[in-house]
Amino acid sequence: MDRNIYLIGFMGVGKSTVSRELAQAAGYGEIDTDAWIERDQGKCIAGIFEEQGEEYFRALETDLLKELRAEHRKVVSCGGGMALREENVALMRQGGAVAWLTAKPETILERVGGDTSRPLLRGNMDVGRIRGMMEQRRPFYRAAADFTVSTDGKPSGKIAEEILKNCFDLFHKVCYTD
Ligand code: S3P
Repeated sequence: MDRNIYLIGFMGVGKSTVSRELAQAAGYGEIDTDAWIERDQGKCIAGIFEEQGEEYFRALETDLLKELRAEHRKVVSCGGGMALREENVALMRQGGAVAWLTAKPETILERVGGDTSRPLLRGNMDVGRIRGMMEQRRPFYRAAADFTVSTDGKPSGKIAEEILKNCFDLFHKVCYTD
């Protein structure tokens, strides 16, 4: 199992928290795409959106995934929009397993309510609008994912365990059929 594990899903599903737990359990390194881009650009995500725009940020995400082709045994916690580009999906699927973390809109609101660091949720903080955005994105997440793990009401250790089991089955199958 030297392939990467990509965590995708809507803002606030808990990718970063689960990533830490999962990396520890699997003995993998950890990469957070938002944090990487912020470090690289010397600017926070909201600043990049404001000054260069969303398309520029999306191109940075794709560049980063290309860079990560050289990485192995990493848990890659992806920004919530990573699965929206077909090119990104292909890069992730080439690199390893893609796990889609889900949560109810109510849970998302609870987790990200009051957070101003996510430009796409600014001023959009109610369950209806979050549900609408989630519905729009669902087909993209579904098309990108090897498997899905629901996070509602589960401790992060349990979620990490489920992801690891799915990855084990998937990687085993890949080895077996290759
Ligand atoms: C985004 C999600 C954010 C961040 C940016 C855009 C999105 O990451 O990449 O604000 O389009 O869903 P998180 O999912 O880690 O909040």
